[in-house]
Amino acid sequence: MRPRVIVTRRWPATVEQLLSQRFDTTFNRHDTPLTSNELRAAFRDFEAVLPTVSDHLSAAVFPEAKVRTKVIANFGVGFSHIDTDAARKHGIVVTNTPGVLTDCTADIAMCLMLSVARRAGEGERQLRAGEWPGWCPTHMIGSKVSGKTLGVVGMGRIGKATARRARFGFGMDVVFYNRSKVDDEEIVAIEARQLSSLEEVLAEADFVSLHCPGGAENRQLINASRLAAMKRGAFLINTARGDVVDQNALIDALMRGEIAGAGLDVFDGEPQIPEPLKHMENVVLLPHLGSATKETRVAMGMRAVENLVAFFDGRPVPDRIV
Ligand code: DGY
Repeated sequence: MRPRVIVTRRWPATVEQLLSQRFDTTFNRHDTPLTSNELRAAFRDFEAVLPTVSDHLSAAVFPEAKVRTKVIANFGVGFSHIDTDAARKHGIVVTNTPGVLTDCTADIAMCLMLSVARRAGEGERQLRAGEWPGWCPTHMIGSKVSGKTLGVVGMGRIGKATARRARFGFGMDVVFYNRSKVDDEEIVAIEARQLSSLEEVLAEADFVSLHCPGGAENRQLINASRLAAMKRGAFLINTARGDVVDQNALIDALMRGEIAGAGLDVFDGEPQIPEPLKHMENVVLLPHLGSATKETRVAMGMRAVENLVAFFDGRPVPDRIV
């Protein structure tokens, strides 16, 4: 009998076809988020659950008993939405999709840096509204990106890819904060300097780009006092997770002009966005687009399938977290 698999949201068609060939697959044809009750039922009825980063798999959605699920193959690299302790308690293997979305997420970090500093969103809104008065030397003056200092918080794969783009594409100096020491070849090539505290990075950087995981360990890492430690003309870029930033403190800092602006692809409590952010011209807001390219979304799906197939074939699972 083929293992019973449930996919919580629509995936790229080629990946869905592959899943149907290999497994007894149930798709969520309506593509609306499953409720807690539906998720709980999924753990009772299916050998594999294939969630994504917008499904909240808290301890409460794991049933007390009769858990049939053996593996959770997450579509996405971040897994702070999964209570991994609860999964472990039920003997469920959990996998993610690292590596395949590195470039596209780093690209979006650069896109946000450029858009917010060069006022691209604001300029486009003005033009579309028919309010562009025409070129003049003082029109919509932004901040130069090339040659500035980038501060990376979390020098993992995506942090490094962003630093590479900043260094080699825009001649930026790179400083970074990472809990453990990082001094591999790549860091040497970028000539990036690891500073001993987050505060030192915040004090030096013209752009602070967040690349650390979400979840309890980094919740509100960027709080009021850390925002105050940033340069007044600096920009905050977040493509990591919304909960890494204290959103209310960010709104206050932007209103008080403590920092120059922010480029945000992720939000605490997304898809809800705090109203004040929507009205600020010095903020660029994207709907969690980091990995949203055809190539990357297919690669993410394929990676999840590889994990699943390895698990059911009894081979070592490549991207096992739990
Ligand atoms: C992930 O995979 O964690 C990303 O946030 C999805 O873009």
